[in-house]
Amino acid sequence: MRTQVAIIGAGPSGLLLSQLLDLAGVDSVVLERQSRAHVEGRIRAGVLEDQFQALLRRAGVGARMDAEGEIHDGIAIARDDRSLRIDLAGPTGGRGVCIWGQTELTRDLFAAREARGGAVLDEAADVALHGIDGDRPSVTFRRGGTEGRVDCDFIAGCDGFHGVSRRSIPPARLETWERVYPFGWLGLLSETPPVSRELIYAGHARGFALCSMRSAELSRYYLQVPAGTDPGDWPDARFWDELRARLPEAAAAALVTGPSIEKSVAPLRSFVAGPMRHGRLFLAGDAAHIVPPTGAKGLNLAGSDIHYLSAALIAWYGSGDTAGLEGYSEHAMARVWKAQRFSWWMTRLLHRFPEDPPFDRRLQEAEFDFLAGSQAAQAALAENYVGLAY
Ligand code: FAD
Ligand code: PHB
Repeated sequence: MRTQVAIIGAGPSGLLLSQLLDLAGVDSVVLERQSRAHVEGRIRAGVLEDQFQALLRRAGVGARMDAEGEIHDGIAIARDDRSLRIDLAGPTGGRGVCIWGQTELTRDLFAAREARGGAVLDEAADVALHGIDGDRPSVTFRRGGTEGRVDCDFIAGCDGFHGVSRRSIPPARLETWERVYPFGWLGLLSETPPVSRELIYAGHARGFALCSMRSAELSRYYLQVPAGTDPGDWPDARFWDELRARLPEAAAAALVTGPSIEKSVAPLRSFVAGPMRHGRLFLAGDAAHIVPPTGAKGLNLAGSDIHYLSAALIAWYGSGDTAGLEGYSEHAMARVWKAQRFSWWMTRLLHRFPEDPPFDRRLQEAEFDFLAGSQAAQAALAENYVGLAY
């Protein structure tokens, strides 16, 4: 099989790239290890920056998001019993974020690829990259008992943190930076009305908690838990009790509980690999970087990578212009590092770090006090939360 761009991974990065390329007349084949049902069922992100929303509209997958997603122009940051509303719109010229689940977004992207006859080959095993140093790369795989091969001009590695693409780059040609946290997030999804209209990010001596949502009837809550926690050790009643204990009193009193419909633990990690290009291979999204979810930046960074990469490939196919491809890694990484900084800062502000000496605990309190008293600090938070310019 021959195509112009072979895309590894059918997460948001891979599907969005193939859709944008297709709309510009560039051919691609997407190879995904899991089944489509598995990818569509994963519960992950829920907060979309406005620039990412615009990109989805441009890709023709914004209709359901615009009809059913909810725009938020503020969030709450709490510490023990104090709660602070951060106005997102005021300091950013009216910008906000959209509450729209990655699950819904992924369904729309799969449907859009299907409607346009796009090649998305799921359940593709043993995907291997070849010839990325030359100008005739290829990808081999196994699917339904037969061997397959895609010859292409470029490969886009959109296969997430555990994918094969980043590992295909010779280690000597790739630098990595990493911070692993001694805790994770235990997430719970329930068919209950959200505790508050806006998200609540709650720092507490017992650990961090987040109140989020997917819709007026579907709530998503998270608790900071030690690394390696087994969700099986957290029956619903224990989860709800612990959540109540970490929220400011008014929120705890308003919490509506119910049976969970999903519960899982996600580890927290900050990670960057660069450059995001090696020869004819371009990395995008979680394949190149991971942020702790505190700033809600992971999916949004995948969006900005795809914005740069799709434009660069379209320019190359349109006019042979190589500037976008040559500048891709530098452009993408500049934004990635700023999102890393913000995600680290939000994580540091709100989590309990078990190894913190008393001095660091007092600094954390001072950071919250400063934020509470400074319009400038709140504006900086808002600017980062709604998303730095592409
Ligand atoms: P992925 O979604 O990981 O997709 C990669 C795809 O590649 C997968 O489908 C995988 O099966 C496939 N694949 C892997 N290996 C191979 C292989 N060898 N061959 C073929 N295919 C392969 N981000 C936000 O912006 N806001 C949030 O609110 C937010 N909340 C989050 C909450 C949680 C609990 C978690 C876990 C993440 C959250 N994120 C959030 C992060 C966000 O989900 C990711 O950044 C996003 O999924 C990245 O998209 P991607 O397409 O780059 O990677
Ligand atoms: C979510 O709703 O899953 C969510 C929201 C905000 C975050 C992280 C996750 O910062």
